[in-house]
Amino acid sequence: MRLSLDAAASMINSGRVVAVPTETVYGLAASLRHVEAIHEIFAIKGRPQDNPLIVHIASKDEVELFAKELPQGFDQLADAFWPGPLTLVVPIVPSSIPSAARAGLSTAGFRIPSHPLARKLIALTGPLVMPSANISGRPSATSSEHVEADFGADFPVLDGGKCTQGLESTILYWDSGKWVIVRLGALPADKFVAVLGYAPANALSMSRSKAANDVKPLCPGQMYRHYAPRAKLYLSKTFSSFPDRPVIGFRGRRYPKGAAVYMLGSVESPGEVAENLYSVLRMLDDDGVQEAWVDIDLPQDGLWMTIRERLLKASSDQAI
Ligand code: TXA
Ligand code: MG
Repeated sequence: MRLSLDAAASMINSGRVVAVPTETVYGLAASLRHVEAIHEIFAIKGRPQDNPLIVHIASKDEVELFAKELPQGFDQLADAFWPGPLTLVVPIVPSSIPSAARAGLSTAGFRIPSHPLARKLIALTGPLVMPSANISGRPSATSSEHVEADFGADFPVLDGGKCTQGLESTILYWDSGKWVIVRLGALPADKFVAVLGYAPANALSMSRSKAANDVKPLCPGQMYRHYAPRAKLYLSKTFSSFPDRPVIGFRGRRYPKGAAVYMLGSVESPGEVAENLYSVLRMLDDDGVQEAWVDIDLPQDGLWMTIRERLLKASSDQAI
């Protein structure tokens, strides 16, 4: 069910969950003031309760309503990249955010989306928690059609067209005096050095918690299988043999004659590939594909690092 901006705002303000476009992916939005709606998000997605939600705000100053401290570099990062695909996880005053939204943690992630409809909506509703608008584990939704494919045609959606970035926000986490990257995303990791004066470490793998001597990821979402179509994906850099399966590949490359090729875009244009990635993964399911090859012969810099990580995660449930 496609909604007008005003209808979406009034549904959210009365405690309903609505799918909302952002420049990265669609989100399932609930107001921070409606704890029942926050619980409903977890139920609708089938999301584990220990996976916290990002708080979407309209201006940088709003973080001060929640944060215990604003870490060094916070202002510079926010000024450089907000509105946009960057989430900053900072220590918060726990009573300022419902426990369900932050999975009981004493931190929360914040971002200002740049999509004009998302910004207009937040101006009418106040802060919104929004996970990606997909069934947990499935590829994220980058169009209202994707949202409807997961949640049904009756699900309330604010239609903002196709998401231009196509990949989730990059997440930086303030840890012991430094920012670390806990999720690669639409903002390439190499953008941070100029702003921070150092390259944030990549903490994507499991890290040791200092308090308890156990293994605990800084970003709970990294524990779970993600971005996966139903098809089993096999990674390869070479395609000389007879194509026994469809190939997820790139325009201008040669694949075995007769292979069904699902085009991600040009290997010259990571932005185009990012924009198409989840649509292509979802298309495999629409076509009933059981198994496919993925051409993983990609550059190893900038946005390609995020694209590579998503393809690896989509192809298996191993931690990377
Ligand atoms: O681009 C995006 O970030 C999209 C759009 C809708 O804004 N949202 C999104 O949300 O990707 P979701 O829920 O699919 O992913 C949020 C990730 C999860 O991996 C979660 O564990 C992590 O953010 N996260 C949220 N709060 C956190 C916190 N306090 N500490 C560490 N990780 C956190
Ligand atoms: Mg997600």
